[in-house]
Amino acid sequence: PVKQNNKILGVLFIFQDISEHERTKIRTQQLEQRALLGEVTAVFAHEVRNPINNISTGLQLMALNTPKEDTEAHEMIQRLLGDCTRLTNLMESVLTFSRTGNYNFAPLDLGSLLERLLKRWRPRMERLGIQYHVKIAPDTLPVRGDQRSLDQVFTNLISNAVRVMGKQGGTLAVKIGPHFSSGGKAFTQVDISDTGPGIPEEMRKQIFEPFFTTSPNGTGLGLSITKEIVTAHRGRIDLTSFPGGTIFHIYLPVINTTEEIKL
Ligand SMILES: Nc1ncnc2c1ncn2[C@@H]1O[C@H](COP(=O)(O)OP(=O)(O)O)[C@@H](O)[C@H]1O
Ligand SMILES: [Mg+2]
Repeated sequence: PVKQNNKILGVLFIFQDISEHERTKIRTQQLEQRALLGEVTAVFAHEVRNPINNISTGLQLMALNTPKEDTEAHEMIQRLLGDCTRLTNLMESVLTFSRTGNYNFAPLDLGSLLERLLKRWRPRMERLGIQYHVKIAPDTLPVRGDQRSLDQVFTNLISNAVRVMGKQGGTLAVKIGPHFSSGGKAFTQVDISDTGPGIPEEMRKQIFEPFFTTSPNGTGLGLSITKEIVTAHRGRIDLTSFPGGTIFHIYLPVINTTEEIKL
């Protein structure tokens, strides 16, 4: 109420949009929690990694000192060594998971990123009898991306593809080109295909959930991290799969040079 000489002249309403303020506050809290989680996980991982290494070295020594005839003991040691590998992988993945969220967006050429990654995989693929080829459309545009996390995205997808094709070998194909959403937004599309067993229909929802895995040494974190990173880029990931192969489609927004050149 606005008063003058005890007479009410009028009533003043003040409306304030606190939603923006609230959003920023929540976002800040989330970032702080993430940073703390990252620190705790990093220390924890370090503390756990050393004992696992010791156990693993001990087991290898035991294997050397166990007579060959004792197959039961050897089997048990191999199982325990497998557990050590699984724990180490899990630790690595949890570390990466806690690190996601720090994005440094810049214009990025996905073609050269993928060619660089595939070069790293070449020796292993040659050993396994896996062929690969990359096809890049000439009109492909750079995306707005964080290089480290996109390395992670494509490494996860390539490593799954290589693993499911396994010793039978096969073909890994990467196709890169422009894509326009129905709303006319410009994306760069990356298709990564393998000639593995495919993913059964009923499993396709679950594969993006953390800890879902069908691999004995898997962590089940690869695709959930991948999806989180792609989403943070305002992109999209989906797949086509059939008995005989799987294609993961990744769409990342191209960099808007007029607005975002300052990034
Ligand atoms: N290219 C693929 N072909 C067939 N199955 C796949 C493929 N990629 C992922 N999967 C399935 O999705 C599961 C989850 O993958 P991911 O999240 O990377 O975890 P992990 O690799 O540790 O198992 C895999 O265990 C596998 O069953
Ligand atoms: Mg994986």
